[in-house]
Amino acid sequence: MFKTSWLSIFSRFNLVSVVIVLAISFWSISIGWGMTYVLNKFTGNVSAAIAAPPNNDVSTRNHVGQEFYIKTCAACHIALPPEVLPRETWKKLLENPNKHYGTSVPNLIRLGQLLIWDYLQTCSRSLSSKDEPIPFYVEQSRYFKIIHPRVKFQETVSNKNCIICHPGVENFDFRTLTPEWKNSP
Ligand code: HEC
Ligand code: HEC
Repeated sequence: MFKTSWLSIFSRFNLVSVVIVLAISFWSISIGWGMTYVLNKFTGNVSAAIAAPPNNDVSTRNHVGQEFYIKTCAACHIALPPEVLPRETWKKLLENPNKHYGTSVPNLIRLGQLLIWDYLQTCSRSLSSKDEPIPFYVEQSRYFKIIHPRVKFQETVSNKNCIICHPGVENFDFRTLTPEWKNSP
């Protein structure tokens, strides 16, 4: 009884479902091609626009996001490495480009925003609880302190003085240290 009715329903809708499945597959394949084409064109342009790509280990997936980030966010100050601030901070900053520390971040198009967000959130950590206040300065960030176990900061740290110990900041290189730090235990 069950089997017969199931079969009859199946044969009635058989052709229709095959057509639907084919249509959906064709549609997704063409979207896929389209996206790849657009992305290739796009990343090609972006890569060409940046003379020296940062020498940093990020996956291919996040490479474009990183380039966008540096291009958009290193116009007024150095681009901070994502890991020094929590994900929540980056999210708030990206969502409010027009309210940025008393100024506004220009040229943040929607696609750029998404690519930058994908990169920043992959390379940063979330705060441990919803009650923890979101730091808007590296100075207030717990994660900044965690990645500096050896350093006892005497004065206020900001994006302006990373260069004191990290001579490569202009190239988005935070691994190279000044000789005194490199050689100290
Ligand atoms: C139009 C100039 C401008 C652009 C572009 C810009 N910023 Fe800023 N940003 C500022 C100013 C002004 C401050 C205040 C602190 C300062 O003077 O550096 C600031 C501060 C910051 C701080 C706090 C730094 C610290 O020392 O603790 C972060 C984080 C930050 N910006 C992230 C970003 C991100 C992310 C982008 C790209 C989406 C961006 N900025 C693009 C002007 C800019
Ligand atoms: C007083 C010197 C000093 C200052 C200023 C400083 N750092 Fe560092 N930074 C270090 C040292 C030393 C290390 C290596 C970790 C350690 O020994 O504590 C380090 C490590 C790092 C790392 C990890 C690098 C890796 O190997 O992946 C990042 C990222 C970083 N710093 C970012 C920053 C940023 C961003 C600023 C500015 C807001 C800054 N630092 C300011 C001394 C400094």
